[in-house]
Amino acid sequence: MPNEDILKMCSELKNKDKNNKRPGKPYVLVADDEQNILRAMSLVLEAEFDVTVVDSGDKAIKKIRKGMDFDVVSLDLQMPGLSGIDTLKAIKQLSPSTEVLIVTAHSNVESTKGALKFGAYDYIDKPFNNAKLLAAIRKGVERRNNTIKAEKAKEQLEFVKAQLMESEKFSAIGQLLAGVAHELNNPLTTVMGFSELLLTRKYSSDETRNCLEKINKSSLLCKNIVQKLLTFSRKEESKQEYIQVNHIIESTLELKQHDFKVDSIKLVKQLADNMPCTMADFYELQQVFLNMINNADQAMKMYAGRGILTVKSAFDEKVIRISFIDTGPGIPKKNLQKIFEPLFTTKKRGEGTGLGLSICYEIIKKHEGDIFVANNPKKGASFIIELPVVDKLSQTVPISNKKQNP
Ligand SMILES: Nc1ncnc2c1ncn2[C@@H]1O[C@H](COP(=O)(O)OP(=O)(O)OP(=O)(O)O)[C@@H](O)[C@H]1O
Ligand SMILES: [Mg+2]
Repeated sequence: MPNEDILKMCSELKNKDKNNKRPGKPYVLVADDEQNILRAMSLVLEAEFDVTVVDSGDKAIKKIRKGMDFDVVSLDLQMPGLSGIDTLKAIKQLSPSTEVLIVTAHSNVESTKGALKFGAYDYIDKPFNNAKLLAAIRKGVERRNNTIKAEKAKEQLEFVKAQLMESEKFSAIGQLLAGVAHELNNPLTTVMGFSELLLTRKYSSDETRNCLEKINKSSLLCKNIVQKLLTFSRKEESKQEYIQVNHIIESTLELKQHDFKVDSIKLVKQLADNMPCTMADFYELQQVFLNMINNADQAMKMYAGRGILTVKSAFDEKVIRISFIDTGPGIPKKNLQKIFEPLFTTKKRGEGTGLGLSICYEIIKKHEGDIFVANNPKKGASFIIELPVVDKLSQTVPISNKKQNP
């Protein structure tokens, strides 16, 4: 996957400012069947607004359907074709935040009342003077800006609420897991110790030895799981160092060389030269990279019995970006939201605990970084990790042990 695609993917995933307002003047649509009125209104408004004119309700709707995002629509209630009220209803349905100003030839109290009921914010009677028209349109633009601000604030509030809920969920699960793991540790040590001791003795039947080996092997598997549970909920201090991420990637890939050979995985390494450093715990990042690589390896092996793993590193002024791109089956859309959750796994019992990615998530967040996943355009999955560039002189990025969750 080219670097631009990775950057695009990161920015889409971050999906930061959805409600970015267009630059330039506010957009105003004037709908009136009188050509002279359209011309006159345009002349008055165009110094301050970006004005579009139409001579019927149907045309006004068409413009909005095409995706034109008007701040204010000035709507003549009496036009041939679609009635003023129906036009108003359609506008509000298509673009609820667009403000509609009603312009009436003579104060028709009933239809004006109706228009206000269906969402118009104000009305003016013809003939009107320029100042009155300008004031009414400005009022509409201000209302719309306020609506957009309120929507944005609401969205941010929802986001923070969701983050809080997630964080509570994660920390409760973390505490539970730590408790269970500690409880399991003692009996497990006993099982492992005694099975090892018994295996040193001589037995008359192979069957007894086989059974003992099975007990010992299973207890080792359990130890592995318990260790993962403890890592997930660990509270110890990180050993921060001023680190070159490429070194950690290289040393992790070395650990996997044998597996790659056995699993027919071709490794493509694209590591950037002159990488800046970050502050990190070597072993924690190695654990993250190893998890990413193991997942990709397992996915490709299961999917096709072979595959290509591309490991990239890149950077800009502020961010170091590491990508793991595989040619496995990718991740079903319905699972994309879940894979960072503790205990989520699609692997068979005994093959995966579902803790790998949640541990990665914890570690990367602790390093003030980010982690993203997406499916590749053709096939396979991509995991992207972002870490902050840290200036050696300042070394300002603190690593807290406080859990930060999505
Ligand atoms: N590269 C990948 N391709 C396809 N699916 C993946 C990939 N990486 C992760 N997954 C999916 O995400 C799930 C969760 O991964 P995670 O690493 O957390 O747990 P796991 O690999 O199942 O178990 P373990 O705790 O042993 O790592 C996996 O079971 C798998 O379904
Ligand atoms: Mg895993």
